[in-house]
Amino acid sequence: MPDARAIPDVQADDAFVTMLALTDTFAPWAVRVAATLRLADLVAPGGTSADTILKGLEAAGESVHPDALGRLLRYLAALGVFDHDEPAGLYRPTALSALLRSDSPVSMRDWWRMDSAMCRLDQTPVLMLEAIRTGEPVYERLFGQDVWADLAAHPSLADSFEQAMAHKTRISLDSVIAALDWAARGDVVDVGGGHGLLLEAVLRVSPDARGVVFDTPAAVATARAHLAGSPVAGRVSFVEGDFFAEWPAGADTYVLMNVLHNWPDEQAVRVLRRGAGALGATGRLLVIETLVGGGGDQRSLARLDMMMLLFSGGRERTRAEFDDLAERAGLAVTGAHPTTFGLTILELGPAAGGR
Ligand SMILES: C[S@@+](CC[C@H](N)C(=O)[O-])C[C@H]1O[C@@H](n2cnc3c(N)ncnc32)[C@H](O)[C@@H]1O
Repeated sequence: MPDARAIPDVQADDAFVTMLALTDTFAPWAVRVAATLRLADLVAPGGTSADTILKGLEAAGESVHPDALGRLLRYLAALGVFDHDEPAGLYRPTALSALLRSDSPVSMRDWWRMDSAMCRLDQTPVLMLEAIRTGEPVYERLFGQDVWADLAAHPSLADSFEQAMAHKTRISLDSVIAALDWAARGDVVDVGGGHGLLLEAVLRVSPDARGVVFDTPAAVATARAHLAGSPVAGRVSFVEGDFFAEWPAGADTYVLMNVLHNWPDEQAVRVLRRGAGALGATGRLLVIETLVGGGGDQRSLARLDMMMLLFSGGRERTRAEFDDLAERAGLAVTGAHPTTFGLTILELGPAAGGR
């Protein structure tokens, strides 16, 4: 008979260990501080002492407390971010610290720097309880204005947001292009097209088409910079505006990729109504999102759904929910093209019988 009063050996309990990892908040912030201070850039392959890292930070104009820096480095080494050669007193890079370097093509530093838009989003979970009680986003409570006003007021934040979106889009781009005969789709307007990477990829496979990136002034600035040297630059134009107001007219195809999930139903329907107005009788609107219950990574999607709730009041949706939004906007979903990356391209046209 086990002794009911015996203290269980929780350290050996998988559930306990898993819960500690799930609830830890120190490692995420230590990594973000390392990213912000560019510590990985200062750690040489042959090893670097804490003192040399401190001097590197001072040379870069960063002010840190030497003892606190040493303790942070020890903690980062305990997490595996750096390798710590204790006898030699040296820190060395690891595969994890490679992701924090500012000069690496695989770098994720822009997601984790504390002056980035993504890091603002990452702070919203401290008010998750409030969001769960009210169903309302909490971004404004933390940062004084809603996320879109905040990005509009801070061009460097907006740029970091678009760079992060570009990073995400880059990974899925090939699958979106392969899922459809884009060359047959004519001229394209990418609505909320941000960085412009999707439009660039579409125009590469559609040599006769012209395209428009339609987005806020801050996002269009990032798109202009991205597309400046592109071989398709001569076929791209940029429209700064508001997708709740008039859309650029006359295109054959309009695209909304990863946009509707940023908005609650009411606003999503308003955006789609503007789309319905721009489409005419023959135009098509392509809504590209990861569907709840679809082929994408549902665990990541559940996390993203929470992020949408906290940062903007948006949500991830099922196919039936998209059908409903389309209907409320006078549109109908006429086709669905799954992609190998988990996104689905929903094809929307005017509802039968018009409105
Ligand atoms: C999540 S990002 C998606 C960017 C891009 N389509 C992608 O898939 O990577 C949402 C985009 O909507 C744009 N946006 C937000 N509010 C807008 C508005 N009122 N009018 C036009 N664009 C807007 C943002 O600037 C941003 O580029």
